[in-house]
Amino acid sequence: MKNATAHQTAFLFICSLLLIACGKTSNPHQNSANNPTTNTSDVIPIGIAFAQTSNVALLGQEGTDGVKIAQKYFNDKGGINGKPIKLVFQDTGGDEAGAINAFQTLINQDKVVGIIGPTLSQQAFSADPVAERNKLPVLGASNTANGIPEIGDYVARVSSSVAVVAPYSVKAALQQNPQIKRVAVFYAQNDAFNKSETEIFQKTVKDLGLNLVTVQKFQTTDTDFQAQASDAINLKPDLAIISGLAVDGGNLVKQLRELGYKGLIIGGNGFNTSHIFSVCRAFCEGVIVAQAYSPVYPSKINTAFRKAYIEQYQREPPQVSAQAFAAVQVYVEALQSLDKKSKINKLSLAQLRTQLNQELLKGTYQTPLGEIAFTSAGDVIQKEFYVAQLKMEPNGVKGKFSFLNIK
Ligand code: ALA
Repeated sequence: MKNATAHQTAFLFICSLLLIACGKTSNPHQNSANNPTTNTSDVIPIGIAFAQTSNVALLGQEGTDGVKIAQKYFNDKGGINGKPIKLVFQDTGGDEAGAINAFQTLINQDKVVGIIGPTLSQQAFSADPVAERNKLPVLGASNTANGIPEIGDYVARVSSSVAVVAPYSVKAALQQNPQIKRVAVFYAQNDAFNKSETEIFQKTVKDLGLNLVTVQKFQTTDTDFQAQASDAINLKPDLAIISGLAVDGGNLVKQLRELGYKGLIIGGNGFNTSHIFSVCRAFCEGVIVAQAYSPVYPSKINTAFRKAYIEQYQREPPQVSAQAFAAVQVYVEALQSLDKKSKINKLSLAQLRTQLNQELLKGTYQTPLGEIAFTSAGDVIQKEFYVAQLKMEPNGVKGKFSFLNIK
């Protein structure tokens, strides 16, 4: 394992050097204010860097579903004062090198005005600095690790941090079972957001005076969790908290139940996808997951988004789709506002990217997530959070997120 990690680090380092060099030689005018306006004459290209392949593709697909609904919705309303937006997709795959590559292509070849993505925080820590160096905005739509907006001045996100969202699920679990005393925590140690999330879960457990009986580690690529599950069960926990992605996390739920664990289970933000149902199936029943989005949030734009989503995909929109829609909305409304102040087709691409970054951080947006704005660092300010519990149909194949009343 040590060799693999060292190998990966060396590969990324060489990759980064090459990318810096390429960026310098292939597009020498990239940051010049004299750079002529590019393909914003007919449409305004916004880059989408989500995972379309790899084990992260399930989450990436939900982002893609959300931005596509947004593209149609805002273009039907007239786009940017009459000019449509055009989403340009580049697959990041599931790793850092893929995300860096997608960013480079969107910046230098597709000449987008800004980027939405990448899917994982783990990827963002490597790819967002590429946007920062090239001075164009990047908006995370699913990155929830601590420290994402602090990557740079051009980095912001609409996806609320684990620090804000995760504690809600622990409080909901205690509301369901006030007898909970002993807590087992599990986390994927090879993933930035899960490492960040588990710290918040562990702190919440301690702050609430509960007994953290064990912390078990795994990898997002693992399939066998017998050792971790057995070790934890031996310590008789009455709450298990898992920070992992959908496939590994779902399989851990399944194996905990198969080994006889009967207590409540909390899944972190990686569980926040309808794809979880097909992994743990009937064993998903009752898993508690905090949410930064509710499909029934009462607003005009959420009603329109939800209706369009259900018509298109025949299911309720999940959190990541709503966050992805909101990210497109932020770009659209910031571009509209900028265009009114200084006609955007008169700006060079470099000027447009920089001014767009400044503009989007100033706004307040009525999105399907509710009203959002940004801190000066670029972190989302959001008011409403929720907790849902997975409810499976008797056949154990289909399921839904059932929203709880939390006090
Ligand atoms: N919320 C997950 C992350 O930030 C997908 O990596």
